[in-house]
Amino acid sequence: MRIGLRIHTWPESILRKKCKEVKIVDERIEQLFEQMVLLMRANKGIGLAANQVGLDLRLVVIETQTGILKLVNPRIVKTEGRIDFIEGCLSFPGIELKIKRARRVRVSALNEKGVALDYQAEGMLAVVFQHEVDHINGIPFIDRVSFWTRLKIRPLLKKIEKETRYGMCEQK
Ligand code: NI
Repeated sequence: MRIGLRIHTWPESILRKKCKEVKIVDERIEQLFEQMVLLMRANKGIGLAANQVGLDLRLVVIETQTGILKLVNPRIVKTEGRIDFIEGCLSFPGIELKIKRARRVRVSALNEKGVALDYQAEGMLAVVFQHEVDHINGIPFIDRVSFWTRLKIRPLLKKIEKETRYGMCEQK
């Protein structure tokens, strides 16, 4: 199937964009979700934010054990506890970083039908929620590590920057 969207990789500027609220959840949004899910699965991701595929919209898809969550305007409304978790990101291929996150979160969002729902998550799923909501706020995970870690991964970032510039970053 031909799809029009692609994964945007570091340092494409949309990854730093605070995305716009979605005003109306219509068929177009459902179609965008479908394309995001295809891209997420093709690239073996477990979460994807709309700006990672070039869209300035507050949309997130997350793969869970019980199915896919399609979230419109998700907000983290409560956090509890701490957890260190090793995260990857489709916009930073080859980089894994240990990040400090909340262990439990409560998230408010609309689903793909425009219905308001609350989600509670713990552990890995809580981490994915936080990683994806960071994305639509324009905060890539490299912003969540120490200055020293950032220095250490500089060569890897440079490599991704170069591949992004020449359109060589692996795309499915
Ligand atoms: Ni990511």
